[in-house]
Amino acid sequence: MQHIPSYQDTFVKYLEAYIEPKEPNTLYDPIHYILELGGKRLRPILTLMTAEIFGGDYKRALDAALSVEVFHNFSLVHDDIMDDAPLRRGKTTVHEKWDVNTGILSGDAMLIMAYQLFENYEPKQFQDLAKLFSKTALEVCEGQQYDVDFETRDDVTIPEYLKMIEYKTAVLVGAAMKMGAIVANASEDCQSSIYNFGKNLGIAFQLQDDYLDVFGDPETFGKQVGGDIIENKKTYLYLKALEFSDATDRRQLEHLYGVNPTDASDKIETVKQLFASSGSAEATKTEIENYTQKAFSVLESIKISEENKEALRAFGNNLMNRSV
Ligand code: IPE
Ligand code: IPE
Ligand code: MG
Ligand code: MG
Ligand code: MG
Repeated sequence: MQHIPSYQDTFVKYLEAYIEPKEPNTLYDPIHYILELGGKRLRPILTLMTAEIFGGDYKRALDAALSVEVFHNFSLVHDDIMDDAPLRRGKTTVHEKWDVNTGILSGDAMLIMAYQLFENYEPKQFQDLAKLFSKTALEVCEGQQYDVDFETRDDVTIPEYLKMIEYKTAVLVGAAMKMGAIVANASEDCQSSIYNFGKNLGIAFQLQDDYLDVFGDPETFGKQVGGDIIENKKTYLYLKALEFSDATDRRQLEHLYGVNPTDASDKIETVKQLFASSGSAEATKTEIENYTQKAFSVLESIKISEENKEALRAFGNNLMNRSV
């Protein structure tokens, strides 16, 4: 088992070798731009780690890891168009640096590139990987559509929100790990347990992402702080704030989530205060912890060494305490 920075290093070198200038550069430059912007690379790291945890050679998992990262970056390019986001990893988003059409087509090409990377596997693994990938990618689309639909709905429930984040985010974390297990020829049982571990971790991860979107430090977060408030995203923070507030605060929140002011700074400030004073910020932190613990309890049943379990727990705890 390697240390996280070593997986990251190997992965980034592999990614850099994969990227080469190509015509038309108007299609490929944005792809290279987003892939080289960095990011935490947590999904590919999980693919490599999982392959090794189940006794495989992590180097054989590099194409699967790359596929997951290319898909993730594709989803970000399109997500930033849908969320009207100006910033990604501290830099201008693809559709703002180029234009929306560029974001759409470069994104489409990335989705195809992600599939193409499975061609390097033998038929059985190719089929297992492609099957998992197709299911996951469709679920991500479903989650993204719910996310957008919820912006204009005022009756979103917490179970609906949890389903939405499971689909848009968590299933890909689960799939990233299951792919590592597939490459390592792990049993079906192990594949599905590690998928569940990743999925629960992914739910905690998205809850944390929503928390940081409001309370993150603009200097380090790399995305526009308050973006979810501007877009009227029905996050756990928002839904719990409604639940915990008295009628006056509830009316104010509902009103704010029904308007789109040109200058959103007052809206962001008021909402932020309501999230803090209602106790919803704390409740969100508790829920992040709950889902992380849920992931850890799934881990208990998997037949892997205690050392490997500890490595996965350390990874989970790091995610929960991140600021980016
Ligand atoms: C951002 O994912 C999108 C979400 C699912 C929250 P990451 O936070 O993993 O983004 P990068 O790749 O590290 O920038
Ligand atoms: C992203 O959710 C989920 C996908 C990209 C599929 P967000 O919209 O919260 O992600 P960020 O905050 O823009 O990274
Ligand atoms: Mg977004
Ligand atoms: Mg989004
Ligand atoms: Mg977000």
